[in-house]
Amino acid sequence: MTKHPSFEEELESADDTPVARQTAPSLDHIWQRRLARRSVLKGFAQAGLLAGASTSILALAACDDDNGKQADAATEPAVDASRFNFEEIAHGVDETHHVAPGYDAAILIRWGDAVVPGAPPFDPLNQSAAAQRLQFGYNNDYVGFIPLPYGTTSSDRGLLCVNHEYTNDDLMFPGLAGTDFRETETAEQVEIAMAAHGGSIIEIARKADGAWEVVKDSSYNRRITLLDTEMTIGGPAAGHPRMQTSEDPTGLRVIGTVNNCAGGITPWGTYLMAEENVNMYFRGHLVPGPEQMSQFRMSIPGNRFPWGKFHKRFDVNAEPREPNRFGWIVEVNPLDPSSMPVKRTALGRFKHEGAETTQSKDGHVVIYMGDDQANEYLYKYVSRDPINLKDRAANQHLLDDGTLYVARFAEDGTGQWMPLIHGENGLDASNGFNDMADILIEARRAADILGATPLDRPEDVQPDAATGKVYMALTNNKGRRPENIDAVNPRAKNEWGQIVELTPHDGDHANSGFDWDLLVKCGNPADAAVDAEWNKATSENGWFACPDNMATDSKGRLWVATDQGSAWSATTGSADGIYALETEGAERGTGHMFFRVPVGAEMCGPCFTPDSTTFFVAVQHPAADGTKDFAGFERESSFEDPATRWPDFTAGMPPRPSVVVITAKDKGVIGG
Ligand code: FEO
Ligand code: CA
Ligand code: CA
Ligand code: CA
Repeated sequence: MTKHPSFEEELESADDTPVARQTAPSLDHIWQRRLARRSVLKGFAQAGLLAGASTSILALAACDDDNGKQADAATEPAVDASRFNFEEIAHGVDETHHVAPGYDAAILIRWGDAVVPGAPPFDPLNQSAAAQRLQFGYNNDYVGFIPLPYGTTSSDRGLLCVNHEYTNDDLMFPGLAGTDFRETETAEQVEIAMAAHGGSIIEIARKADGAWEVVKDSSYNRRITLLDTEMTIGGPAAGHPRMQTSEDPTGLRVIGTVNNCAGGITPWGTYLMAEENVNMYFRGHLVPGPEQMSQFRMSIPGNRFPWGKFHKRFDVNAEPREPNRFGWIVEVNPLDPSSMPVKRTALGRFKHEGAETTQSKDGHVVIYMGDDQANEYLYKYVSRDPINLKDRAANQHLLDDGTLYVARFAEDGTGQWMPLIHGENGLDASNGFNDMADILIEARRAADILGATPLDRPEDVQPDAATGKVYMALTNNKGRRPENIDAVNPRAKNEWGQIVELTPHDGDHANSGFDWDLLVKCGNPADAAVDAEWNKATSENGWFACPDNMATDSKGRLWVATDQGSAWSATTGSADGIYALETEGAERGTGHMFFRVPVGAEMCGPCFTPDSTTFFVAVQHPAADGTKDFAGFERESSFEDPATRWPDFTAGMPPRPSVVVITAKDKGVIGG
């Protein structure tokens, strides 16, 4: 038996490895060491200089030119105390989850539970693709809530839209751990894994006693899978020759979606699924040809799953254009379970982390999107036409016609959105872009040419509807070299990440300018070598590392989920979790730990009901990450021998990714 890195270790090293650029960045400032920018946060935790400063002072300090940029400072309420009122939990790691005192955390749905009526009971030793395509998939990531009846702000009944990002096959099936399952997995196991990817839409309702349950016979309940959900393609790349394959000569029809990480809910009630690490599923090797440069820039083929052995479309040497049909944002209409999902090519193709929506001043949809790999970029999309909330169907092409932008961060705390438009700024045939479809299929390479700012792995990008600000989680970048640090990526060998706050100019998300600042530099504030920056009010349990998914609540407060991967013992020594993070007033930059996952899990999917009395969180891959450092276990998990059997704790039952529903015992707003 060959010893090889664990599946999780391989995934993490892939995210950490930047892709070498074939196109030299056109602007020489990008890779220069830039130390000129003043930082309003400097000395924050280290010296506590700003612990008593008001939000207005911080905001004014960041405003130094255009008119309109001081509007926020003038209108922000003075806040001097914590905006949260709960007793935080302690850092730590054990076999189960923990939530702050005064709250209940119940399992809502687990991998294998019934979604579609007729689903058989989960039987881990007798799995089948036919059963899995009716059951809740693996590795729940994004969670979105659409109130029912549609158009209301109901917080008692709704549709929960959940992404199933990927599978940990060595924890799903017996006998695979310790082998290279890319070679040992069977065709049937591959089909089960394909069916466990995608998404679930479930109707959920609150019972009279306040507990939530899945409405088991709801006609809304739906599984979207990689195996058999037919999708169409919209926008400028629809039908393009580079989207055509031998199975689909039209370039308009693709089966399934894969590696759906985070996502978003649009103002017109559709569900956006972000396709992230799509490279992993393609097998083969790079060969000279028209797609070679495009595949290289997306790290394709990733050769981490064996699917190409059994399904020709995942063999890049047999079907070199199939990868062009993945790496998009998929729009789903959850209100019509028979509707066909659409891959919206106008939003660009890259490793989409998420797709959180907001609106411009004049009512156009604006979608913020991170590209999660070391030294990739931040994007936004602005629709050509305004949202029509009176006629839901009138919005069905808003994501086909619009402009995609990529961000450049300047050292002085300002930033600029640069449009990806064919024929402008080098995005033309001289660089291999014959039309807009070429630009969108190779959005990364187009962004290289525009001189976008390489970032420390952009994960979720969360607009705050209450303040108009936008928060970007940069999770880490272990390979950033000292000569490449800059103001927005200020640490070399960054193992901890940072959260960046963007303030659109003129309070308008469609504006081409923004101000930005670091909200926190993550990691241990007590370790000078880490060079973290937190408000000094942060307790020994309130700081965190590796921010990932985020959510804002009805009070405009920020909640952050962490994903340290296998490095958790070195970055915090604690399992991942949910942290409330102060963004305003004297406590700005203070974290508070609210929820903790079981050992080996990653925290995903924070999502509130409209009234913020219910908080949905997703526990992904329990028992998977870094269990060699789990005292008393100290080995890699397997199906037969996992570090935890959360949440069932039943002999023979493997650990199961699950959505957890959190409510306050006093039925109040989460976080007080
Ligand atoms: Fe799927 Fe970047 O997390
Ligand atoms: Ca993520
Ligand atoms: Ca989010
Ligand atoms: Ca992550």
